[in-house]
Amino acid sequence: MFSSLWSYLTSLFPSSSSASSTVRVSPSINIIAASQTGTALTYAATLQSTLTPLFPHTKTTQTINDDADIHIFILATTGDGETPDTFKATFQQIQENKEIQAQELTYAIFGLGNSTYNKFNACAKNVDGMLQKKGSTRIGEVGLGDDNGV
Ligand SMILES: Cc1cc2nc3c(=O)[nH]c(=O)nc-3n(C[C@H](O)[C@H](O)[C@H](O)COP(=O)(O)O)c2cc1C
Repeated sequence: MFSSLWSYLTSLFPSSSSASSTVRVSPSINIIAASQTGTALTYAATLQSTLTPLFPHTKTTQTINDDADIHIFILATTGDGETPDTFKATFQQIQENKEIQAQELTYAIFGLGNSTYNKFNACAKNVDGMLQKKGSTRIGEVGLGDDNGV
């Protein structure tokens, strides 16, 4: 499924393959992963090491960072359409708009899910819904990764 994530991201940043010659100002990127069984964390680590040579100001954190130009969410869904435990505090932070000005966020979002579940990619869809409601700016469409391979 990482190839889906990478295809998704290269469609959002089409100049990244020639970034050294075309990107003049490097945005700061904050990768936030929500994982129950580790896949999203592995993807976040791979993404961090892939993006850092192109965009040196790339970090992986657990929270919204007001200083970041772009947030990239990699969000698994667990249980019956539930938010992974490690992301619950950030989910609440976005929901309640505490300590963040969500309307200022520019973000991309990629969900990890499985289409055999009724609530396919619910976490990514819910977070996107909250951010859209607050007036944040999404880059591209919501990416919907599927374990089921369809
Ligand atoms: C117990 C369990 C419940 C899951 N529930 C859902 C779900 O409700 N919706 C969905 O789209 N995917 C669901 N999945 C699929 C996971 O989101 C998918 O396997 C994902 O890659 C796991 O990422 P993680 O290892 O970072 O937690 C579930 C997987 C497991 C093991």
